[in-house]
Amino acid sequence: MSINIFGQKADLTIENNITTLIKKMTLEEKIGQLSQPVLDEHTKEVGEKIAAGEVGSFCSFNKRHYTPSERNRLQKIAVEKSRLGIPILFTYDVIHGFSTIYPISLGLSASWDLDLAKDVASMAAKEARYYGIDMTFSPMVDVSRDPRWGRISECYGEDVLLNAAFGKATVLGYQGDDLSSHENIGSCVKHFVGYGLSMGGRDKQFTEISKNTLLNTYLPPFKSAVDAGAVSVMTAFNDISGVPASANRFTMQEVLKEQWGFDGFTLSDWDAVLELKNHGISGNDKESAEKAINAGLDMEMRSDTFKNLITSVKVGKVKIAVIDEAVRRVLRIKYRLGLFDNPYIDDKKSDKVQLTQANRELARKAGAESMVLLKNNGILPLSKNMRRLIVEGPFVNSKDMLGWWIGNADDNNVVTVEEGIRNKTDSKLEIIHGSLARNYDKTVLICLGESGGNFGESNCITDVTIPKSQIELVKEAKAKGKKVVVVIFNGRPWVLTPIMDYADAILIAWHPGTEAGNAVADVLFGDVNPSGKLTCSFPKTNGQIPVFYSDRISGRPRENKYKNIDANPLFEFGFGLSYTSFKYSNLKLSSNTLGKERTITVSVDVTNTGKREGKEIVQLYIHDKVASITRPKKELVKFSKLTIKAGATQTVTFKISASDFEFYNLDNKYTTEAGAYDLWVGGSSDCELSLKFTLED
Ligand code: BGC
Repeated sequence: MSINIFGQKADLTIENNITTLIKKMTLEEKIGQLSQPVLDEHTKEVGEKIAAGEVGSFCSFNKRHYTPSERNRLQKIAVEKSRLGIPILFTYDVIHGFSTIYPISLGLSASWDLDLAKDVASMAAKEARYYGIDMTFSPMVDVSRDPRWGRISECYGEDVLLNAAFGKATVLGYQGDDLSSHENIGSCVKHFVGYGLSMGGRDKQFTEISKNTLLNTYLPPFKSAVDAGAVSVMTAFNDISGVPASANRFTMQEVLKEQWGFDGFTLSDWDAVLELKNHGISGNDKESAEKAINAGLDMEMRSDTFKNLITSVKVGKVKIAVIDEAVRRVLRIKYRLGLFDNPYIDDKKSDKVQLTQANRELARKAGAESMVLLKNNGILPLSKNMRRLIVEGPFVNSKDMLGWWIGNADDNNVVTVEEGIRNKTDSKLEIIHGSLARNYDKTVLICLGESGGNFGESNCITDVTIPKSQIELVKEAKAKGKKVVVVIFNGRPWVLTPIMDYADAILIAWHPGTEAGNAVADVLFGDVNPSGKLTCSFPKTNGQIPVFYSDRISGRPRENKYKNIDANPLFEFGFGLSYTSFKYSNLKLSSNTLGKERTITVSVDVTNTGKREGKEIVQLYIHDKVASITRPKKELVKFSKLTIKAGATQTVTFKISASDFEFYNLDNKYTTEAGAYDLWVGGSSDCELSLKFTLED
């Protein structure tokens, strides 16, 4: 090992091997390494392309078209029939699971449990790598504050720090300690950058982002994933203030490669280079390819505009050094993934690691930890000894619980809510369907939600209000005098205002994955005390969108509202109930001043004031009161999830130091600015306990 110019560890043997290989490569073979066609059923044609050295990587390697042994067959063509025998990198969207599906990312983030996120990624990696996938297009760390945008389901919510933390945990989970192990996969973090701000919540719309906002809000989660070792970065579809992300030299070359020292490869999103023409920054495919590669894009997904680069190099529009550098990056990752030493997979073993009991158990745990209890007037948890339960709603027996990206999963393996309840209560409980009219039962469980096809890519909607027919079900049940428990399987924040007066309990279950029903039953019957907290605000009405906790204070805060309602969401970021309750007291700072080098300790007592053990997510926020630019009115800087026994008090401590308050200032310099700060600690972003401190020069 040695340290390269960016301070990263470079393996000299690998670098020398790459140099030797690049010297032998024709320009055509180099362009081949920068190409990622989609793998589909046209095997024969694909075989010819592989043998000709035209394929560096394949997108979409999955069960629909290929088995693990077919992957070996294709790889063999690359290794044995192509002139230089360079192995192929097989990729796929393993987003929240492969054969076993875990909660959608937005749901998982509501667990605020980074170890869990790492475990989930690690399990998914094992299933995927044994199937033959070398790299996944995940995590997605696009900060998003617009529930109309279908892809909000794929990120870790509205907050910068949480996206950064979950992004890092996920990369570490996928990649493990040894990338060449057949238990780990490479991670391609996406979508670089600012895609979550798509104008009006319309997918692939342009984004208007100042350099300072890019630096302070949209880039940090990517930096965190890159620092964790992500081998690749996928460039987004959006145009960032006039320069599409896939041809953006500032973000790809200056920030990512030069400032952050990223030594993996950048990959365009699906057809994003081809679409530069549609954006209107190039007149033809050749120009698109030139703009992309000259701006720092290394590999092209799906489209094949890069084949034009052969001419571009010959006529001097693209330097051969630029091509060689891109090839080097791709080959470096192939080496790190161990593909040169061991290009094949053990195709006999794949079946044994898919959907194992251990994976199912993890999915069940993750499902339950992700659920957020928004309302409970005491009806939950349900008693396991109850005799009858009326069940209603489109999701009681639905297997549509896997979200939008379902990997290689088969929804036949999904545990429905009714099955989960039966598993929990044996045959003692009589489950009655659709019997709202009958009067002899007091409790009705209504399972509502949206299909996995209603959110995700290109699934943007103008109205995120709970659908009318679902509101009617809740109202009807209440009108019949029932106790109404509502469970919602959603992929985005919903406007729940219309049911607030009619539901006795509301549990947000997201799309929990394969073990959906068991996880829901664990929470409903109290085997798991819910502890999830929202990572995205739930608006009161569509007109409030975007509404998020970290907006900035204006000159007239009292006027920052509407005529008809205030500007607060229905449920704020960080909110979530438990079957017990917590009280915060005794907030203290070890000092009221913080020097640049020192740390101070924040402590607070958290008391479980209820009758059962529970988990609480303790959140610490700050506000920089005077700075060279206006700062968020609150920013999450620390959090901790802890278990507290009934009646017990725990003192939670956080160490904070000046580096926790660094930001890009008026000069876009990453620094701290001395002055006064407010600090809050509590169980949501609306916490009350607060203190002040001063950051010294
Ligand atoms: C999506 C990416 C995804 C890619 C490959 C694109 O349309 O935007 O998130 O990884 O397809 O499937």
